Amino acid sequence: MSLLKRLGGAPQEPPANQPLPSSPPAPPEESRQALTHLAPPPPPPAETPMPAAPGMGGLSALAPQPQGVVSSPPTDMQQKMLELSLWIVDRIQSTLGSQTQIERNAETERMMQERFAAFYRQSGMNFSQEQIHQLYQMVLDEMFGFGPLEALIRDENVTEIMVNGPKKIYIELKGKTQLSPIQFANDDHVLKIIDRIIRPLGRRIDRKWPMVDARLPDGSRVNAIIPPCAIDGPSISIRKFSKHKLTVDDLIRFGSMTKEMAEFLRACVVSALNIVVSGGTGSGKTTLLNVLSNFIPEHDRIVTIEDSAELQLGQDHVVRLEAKPPEVDGTGRVTIRDLVINSLRMRPDRIVVGECRGGEALDMLQAMNTGHDGSMTTVHANSPRDTIRRLETLALMSGMDLPVTVIREQIASAVDLIVQQARLRDGSRKVINITEVQGMESGQVVLQDIFMFEDQGTTPDGKVIGQLKPTGTRPKFTPKLEANGFKLPPSIFGAVFPGGRR
Ligand SMILES: Nc1ncnc2c1ncn2[C@@H]1O[C@H](COP(=O)(O)OP(=O)(O)OP(=O)(O)O)[C@@H](O)[C@H]1O
Ligand SMILES: [Mg+2]
Repeated sequence: MSLLKRLGGAPQEPPANQPLPSSPPAPPEESRQALTHLAPPPPPPAETPMPAAPGMGGLSALAPQPQGVVSSPPTDMQQKMLELSLWIVDRIQSTLGSQTQIERNAETERMMQERFAAFYRQSGMNFSQEQIHQLYQMVLDEMFGFGPLEALIRDENVTEIMVNGPKKIYIELKGKTQLSPIQFANDDHVLKIIDRIIRPLGRRIDRKWPMVDARLPDGSRVNAIIPPCAIDGPSISIRKFSKHKLTVDDLIRFGSMTKEMAEFLRACVVSALNIVVSGGTGSGKTTLLNVLSNFIPEHDRIVTIEDSAELQLGQDHVVRLEAKPPEVDGTGRVTIRDLVINSLRMRPDRIVVGECRGGEALDMLQAMNTGHDGSMTTVHANSPRDTIRRLETLALMSGMDLPVTVIREQIASAVDLIVQQARLRDGSRKVINITEVQGMESGQVVLQDIFMFEDQGTTPDGKVIGQLKPTGTRPKFTPKLEANGFKLPPSIFGAVFPGGRR
């Protein structure tokens, strides 16, 4: 049985290359029966002009592909499919009367199948089974989901979606950013999908306040910004939530860190060192913070504080806090800083702050200096040295009138370790420095690399060649690790034995 028949019980299929019917055929008997008890039947000839029948040349490009549907620029055919799907959606919606948003369930899906079949026939197109299937999926995505974004949300290989106006959707696929062939119809179409994302959350976006943070039902982080601030059309950025958070074993397997580095980091976390993970945007900071946080011993009470909850800890004794955007009237905002201050009254053994972006850095440093050892956070910085500068700037943003030297001393005594994460030029993500903060000397914070990545160039196919290596230096806090039962062999740190063995 053909897909169309399965979808709508079509009595006969139009012959190949049949021209657009001058008066569209009536929906099949079964469709009409199903329609009558749900809503008025589809209206007679469509008032909305039908999209022109596409040429058949590019059809093969549309056949659903297993996963990598998204790595080439859009074709004319895809544009036509989009137009046709929106035309069918428009037609179906006009049969629903005042009921603009319908819930997805067995009954509405059956109704959708029938109406889709009727309107598809009305369009006079002659698609292959696969194309009809794809068109139907597009209609479902538009009716029940986030429209063109759905295909990208479903594709587990896509880790990031960046919409720069309706016609340019970039995606990150296996660490590489590329243009996807998927498009929206126009600005209004993007705005409609933004509205669909934020409406259930009670959030708003308009010309007066044209930006919003939100989350998809699956936990993916979303930011949307629209005109007048987004000059070239509404923009959406989605960090996909991965159901399977990367584990330490994954990071070792990917070559993001060595076994020795992982062993060392575990010892540091269990021994309650204060750790800052630093890195650029999307370099893998949160992923690494998650891995490190999972090393925290089970009996410790952990308070996590995030803008948008991303961390997934395996321990039981965890209190998760999330910052809160203001209400529509602008009041009621709860910042990361408010939560850090509040967390100090929650008798935490460990405070894990998703990211320090402002004055909370000072509160965090003070917490680390006043007995909340073993706290962790991330900052946006490109090297361990840059992390110190960034922490200084963030601490100054707290509004406390402290001289830089005092802040620097606070940093030097609070932070034990900086773990630098980077996204390399081939898209791979690595820990490129594990650096001890040793203290102050002549007004400067003294840093000492314990492990680092030695970049040795690039292969002809663009892969970075290099090695993650210990520097041969044992950290000054080694006694603290030993007191916690970690007798790490000198070879972990690359110490050379008399026989020349490392
Ligand atoms: N070591 C790794 N190897 C491969 N992929 C990774 C690695 N670390 C993180 N990723 C992936 O990279 C993406 C970004 O990771 P993550 O959210 O941890 O970055 P981030 O630095 O916290 O980003 P942001 O700056 O937006 O907060 C995610 O899809 C994540 O699964
Ligand atoms: Mg992050």
